[in-house]
Amino acid sequence: MPALGMGTWRMGERGRDRSREVAALRRGLDLGMTLIDTAEMYGDGGAEKVVGQAIAGRRDQVFLVTKVYPHNASRRGVVAACERSLARLQTDWIDLYLLHWRGDVPLAETVAGFEQLRASAKIRHWGVSNLDRGDMEELLALPDGGRCAVDQVLYHLDCRGIEWDLLPLCRRHGIAVMAYSPFNEGRLLRNRRLIALAKGLGTSPAHIALAWLLAQRNVASIPKAGDAAHVEDNYRALTLKISPELQSEIDRLFPPPTRSTPLAMI
Ligand SMILES: NC(=O)c1ccc[n+]([C@@H]2O[C@H](COP(=O)([O-])OP(=O)(O)OC[C@H]3O[C@@H](n4cnc5c(N)ncnc54)[C@H](OP(=O)(O)O)[C@@H]3O)[C@@H](O)[C@H]2O)c1
Repeated sequence: MPALGMGTWRMGERGRDRSREVAALRRGLDLGMTLIDTAEMYGDGGAEKVVGQAIAGRRDQVFLVTKVYPHNASRRGVVAACERSLARLQTDWIDLYLLHWRGDVPLAETVAGFEQLRASAKIRHWGVSNLDRGDMEELLALPDGGRCAVDQVLYHLDCRGIEWDLLPLCRRHGIAVMAYSPFNEGRLLRNRRLIALAKGLGTSPAHIALAWLLAQRNVASIPKAGDAAHVEDNYRALTLKISPELQSEIDRLFPPPTRSTPLAMI
C-alpha cells in the first residue's frame, strides 16, 4: 500500500468544483500519489463519482480505498453497498474497503460480508476506521478478524494519543495505521509553533506535518487537496527527512501522550 495518498472528503458536493477536483486527483496520480481515499458518505456518493472520473483509463495504477456506512455494514448490507460504490467508482474492484466507524451491527457480521466480497474478488483487502484499542481487540478475537489490514484514524501533530496504545497494538498485529486529517482539516497549517519551525528550516508547515507522519513505521497518510498546487506541495513533503534533532524539536512543540486517552475522531 502506498504511504502517501489523497483524501476526498468535501469533494463531489458541488458540480461547479468537479473539474478542479478531478484535475487535482489526476495531478496526484501523475506524480505517483496512487492511493485515493473516499467513502460512500462523502458528497452522498458524489466523491466516489469524482474519483471514478479521475481514475478512468488508469485504474491499474490506483490503490482505491472506500468506506461503508455503519448502518449498511450488515453481512448482506455491506455486499449491496459495495456494489453501489463499484458502480459510482466505475470499477470492478476496490483495493481496500473500510468500515467507516463502529455502529450497532456486530463486527462479526461486517467481517463475514467483507470476507464474502474478498472471496468474489470485489475487494482485495478490508479494514476499519475510527476503532480504538478495545474495539480492535474485539475484532482481532473474531475468527477472520486478523485479516484486518488497516485502521484509519485521526492522527496529526496536535493529536498524538494513538501513540500510547493503539499504534503499538496495530504494529504488533501487522495492521497499518492510515492517518486521516493530517492537517487537522487545514487548521494545523495555521499553527504558530509549526509555522515558526518551518520558517527556521526553510520548509513549509505541510511538509513537516506530512513528513513526520510518513517517517513512522506502519503509518500512511491521506491529505486532501482540491487544489492541484496543494497536491504538488504535499508530494514534495516526501523529500523532507526527519532528523533525530528535528524529531526532538517536534516532540518539544507537540508532545507525545503521557497516558492513555480515548481515540479522537471527527
Ligand atoms: N475515516 C474517517 O472518519 C475520516 C475523517 C476525516 C477525514 N478522512 C479522510 O482523510 C482525508 C484528509 O482529511 P481532511 O480532508 O479532513 O483534512 P486535511 O487533509 O487535514 O486538510 C485538508 C485541507 O488542507 C488544505 N491543504 C491541503 N494541502 C495543503 C497544502 N499543501 N498547503 C495548504 N493547504 C493545504 C486543503 O485545501 P484545498 O482542498 O483547497 O487544497 C483542505 O482545506 C479526507 O479527505 C478523507 O479522505 C477520513
